[in-house]
Amino acid sequence: MSSPQIPVHKGLEDIYVKESKICYIDGERSKLFYRGYDIDDLVKYSTFEEVSYLLLYGKLPNRKELNEFQKSIRDSYTLNPEVIKLLEIFRRDTHPMDLLRTCISYLSTFDDSPKDQSLEKNLSRVIKIIGSIPTILGTFDRIRRGKKPIEPNPKLNLASHFLYLLRGKEPKERDAKIMDTALILHAEHEMNASTFACTVTASTKSDIYSSITSGIGTLKGPLHGGANEEALRMFLEIGSIDKVKPYLDELFVKGKKVMGFGHRIYKNYDPRYRILKEIAKEMSKERGNHKLFEIALKVEEEVLKRLEKYNIYPNVDFYSGLVFYFLNIPIDFFTCVFTMGRVVGWSAHIIEYWMDNRLIRPKALYKGELNLPYKPIEQRE
Ligand code: ACO
Repeated sequence: MSSPQIPVHKGLEDIYVKESKICYIDGERSKLFYRGYDIDDLVKYSTFEEVSYLLLYGKLPNRKELNEFQKSIRDSYTLNPEVIKLLEIFRRDTHPMDLLRTCISYLSTFDDSPKDQSLEKNLSRVIKIIGSIPTILGTFDRIRRGKKPIEPNPKLNLASHFLYLLRGKEPKERDAKIMDTALILHAEHEMNASTFACTVTASTKSDIYSSITSGIGTLKGPLHGGANEEALRMFLEIGSIDKVKPYLDELFVKGKKVMGFGHRIYKNYDPRYRILKEIAKEMSKERGNHKLFEIALKVEEEVLKRLEKYNIYPNVDFYSGLVFYFLNIPIDFFTCVFTMGRVVGWSAHIIEYWMDNRLIRPKALYKGELNLPYKPIEQRE
């Protein structure tokens, strides 16, 4: 029987499950690094494809490596016709995260050599998955709106391709750049809940599709990636600046959390939040749509005051939804856009974990009874 003195690490807070060279978060100083590179520099100088290569292969690619990598991602834009058929049979009101989880799982059934677990083969699977996600989402959106799916366009980078499939025309350079930046910002974030879920599945030596499917299911929750959709819905529901205070009063009285606020690691501002806030501000000006941004600013100001004692600040999800909204991405797609970027980080961690695999199997401290007498069903009350 377990002793009551044994510490229980609720939420696995401050527990390290592996050594890693992928990502470093300095939660006190608001800094985020991918493979040693500051996220601010990557956003300024890099692209999502280049950052994906960096995360997966551990170094920035040279021109030839980047060209080959981009080509293999673009070759993956075209879906197996069976996947399109599956997209057609989903209920039109299926949440896109549910659909994506199912589709990534379905991709495994077309793998021509599932027993091949070499690094090379797994990287090719990852590339296939990265390239497929925008097409799955863009195609489903058209199907659910009663429109004909559009043929993939391998001339476009992944960010532009996604917007192209949604809109039916190529995005302007500015929108494509914003989308690309958002993908860079979502690509990786150390051992968060969804990356851990992927790692747990991978640790059993299950396959990459199952591991990523676990990640999608975990990211969906409103305490994690689902918060971007919830934050935007909150701004819409509030509707005007004068309603911010009464809305928050009611929320706090009910003991509910403000979506897009708080983080297990950041005890200061999330560096991704800063970048996304600036983009949301610029977009609200460019589009002449100030209302939602101003509501968001007011919510931020009020919540900061109310949660000051806890060191709680806005996180990546607070303004990302507004950016996606200004890009005319459907609201129920927001967490899928997060997934589109994060699938890279998940894959990098899965591959790194497999280099030094150990089954993840923690323990639960038993607090129940023992040696109870078994009663036949007829004798139970
Ligand atoms: N709104 C109101 N109160 C909050 C919030 C919030 N967003 N976040 C934390 N608090 C409160 C907690 O209720 C707690 O108060 P208590 O001690 O009186 O119970 C206190 O602040 C400390 O917070 P914890 O709950 O200990 O923080 P934890 O590390 O467990 O949770 C989490 C982090 C889950 C992100 C939390 O802040 C939250 O639920 N935020 C809202 C959802 C959200 O934005 N999730 C996205 C996170 S970023 C990402 O995953 C991509």
